[in-house]
Amino acid sequence: MSKLNILISASEVVPFAKSGGLADVVGALPKALKQLGHSVIVVMPRYYIVDKYQYNLTPLEGALGVQMGVIGEEWAEVYEGVLPNSDVPIYFIENDHYFGRLGLYDEGGVGFNDNDNRFIFLSKAAMQLSKKLGFKPDIIHANDWHTASMPILLNTLYANDPHFAQTASVLTIHNLQHQGKFYKGAMDVLGVGWERFNHQELEEHDGVNLLKGGLVHANAINAVSQKYAQEITTAEFGCGLEDTIQTHQDKLYGILNGVDYEEWSPAIDDFIANKYDANNLQGKAICKKELQKKFNLPQETNTPLIGLVGRLADQKGITLLTQSIHQLLELDIQIVLLGTGESWAESFFSDIALQYPEKFASFIGYKNDLAHQIEAGSDFFLMPSLFEPCGLNQIYSLRYGTLPIVRATGGLDDTIENYQPFTGYGDGFKFYEATDTALLNTVKWAVDTYYNDKEGMAHLIQNAMQKRFSWAESAQAYQEMYSNALASRFG
Ligand code: ADP
Ligand code: GLC
Repeated sequence: MSKLNILISASEVVPFAKSGGLADVVGALPKALKQLGHSVIVVMPRYYIVDKYQYNLTPLEGALGVQMGVIGEEWAEVYEGVLPNSDVPIYFIENDHYFGRLGLYDEGGVGFNDNDNRFIFLSKAAMQLSKKLGFKPDIIHANDWHTASMPILLNTLYANDPHFAQTASVLTIHNLQHQGKFYKGAMDVLGVGWERFNHQELEEHDGVNLLKGGLVHANAINAVSQKYAQEITTAEFGCGLEDTIQTHQDKLYGILNGVDYEEWSPAIDDFIANKYDANNLQGKAICKKELQKKFNLPQETNTPLIGLVGRLADQKGITLLTQSIHQLLELDIQIVLLGTGESWAESFFSDIALQYPEKFASFIGYKNDLAHQIEAGSDFFLMPSLFEPCGLNQIYSLRYGTLPIVRATGGLDDTIENYQPFTGYGDGFKFYEATDTALLNTVKWAVDTYYNDKEGMAHLIQNAMQKRFSWAESAQAYQEMYSNALASRFG
């Protein structure tokens, strides 16, 4: 296929700013697309935390003017850098008023009340920047609600702009729960005309829904796993947008995320106590000991250690965990947890750590090196998610020979094969019902396998460590989706 110019924009990108898997994806996919021969640029905000000196960012000459509807013209400085270990350019939109703050979306758990303006600004700035750079995109690739305005802008304000005459748009849904719902006054900032404020486009319950508008206007939509792409057509998972998704199902894809194995492989991971691979797991035992030490747990080699890393949000099934935690801790196990999120959950787990000092330990905070150490040092990795578009932690766990215990939803169901004791097939343990009992029973099954089926465990670990979810493969699928998006727009 011919070489494409691809403009990707998102609110977070590894290593510059990250709150979850979105950042991992946007940090890695552009590099894989570049390797397929495409020309890719990435655009994100220059948040306060993005250090210009650390990343050697250089300013572009001249400020970028962005029309913000009733607010008038606003200005951005633009800084240029590259995605690490690549020559993919990444551009940072700087505007102190919008992005010169400590949090990405909130501070102390309270969302900024101008998030509509902040991300409309990012979306418009990305469009303007491509003009300033003379980069004529074949594909504009938006991610989640933050940049969902781009497909809308392409079909409205930029519909007759020759710079975008050959451009089609794509929107990846990483999480349908967050939709960018705002007071309808946001229409006057977006400036695409009130005729777009109707139930088939941007309107919902008399407010603006940016993600909905993006879904309607994009030429192709990707939901990050096959299973999630099916699930979001139903009322259970559609978060109120199931009808819109159904209407646009012919342009819906379910391309699974890949993993950056340069970042997440026990044989080359500098964050872990001892490197190891599938042929020699002694290093993993050392990592376990170090992890137990770090968390002040008894350094028992033969007690199964269960790790958890993630946002402490409803999505991640934390209520199932809180409901079953006391029964779980009756088992002969240890649990380590790393996470931040809902304040009630943060205090709940800190409290459990005080009640069970020999068995449960938590670190409430965000710490990348510790996430790696938990992947390496645990025997099992628990993800009881209520929904999970793709999920990356369970895929990292496979690579580290840490067996995932997951609820069979979305990407968790697509990436983990349930253990079959008679054949030795599988690489993890799955449960189906979103109940504390199902969670408890499945952990019991895993723990029983650990203690009583050593051969089965060894098989599972080997199966897990051999499995790969490469970006090269996912990028191929994205490439196909891009060409379908172009075909559907231009015939
Ligand atoms: P989501 O995007 O829904 O949060 P994913 O499983 O796709 O879930 O990605 C989560 C990413 O964020 C992983 O790379 C994980 O290691 C990381 N992460 C989440 N919480 C923390 C934390 N408290 N400290 C360090 N890394 C974290
Ligand atoms: C979201 C989802 C997660 C997915 C990630 C990257 O935050 O919750 O399941 O892996 O985006 O696509």
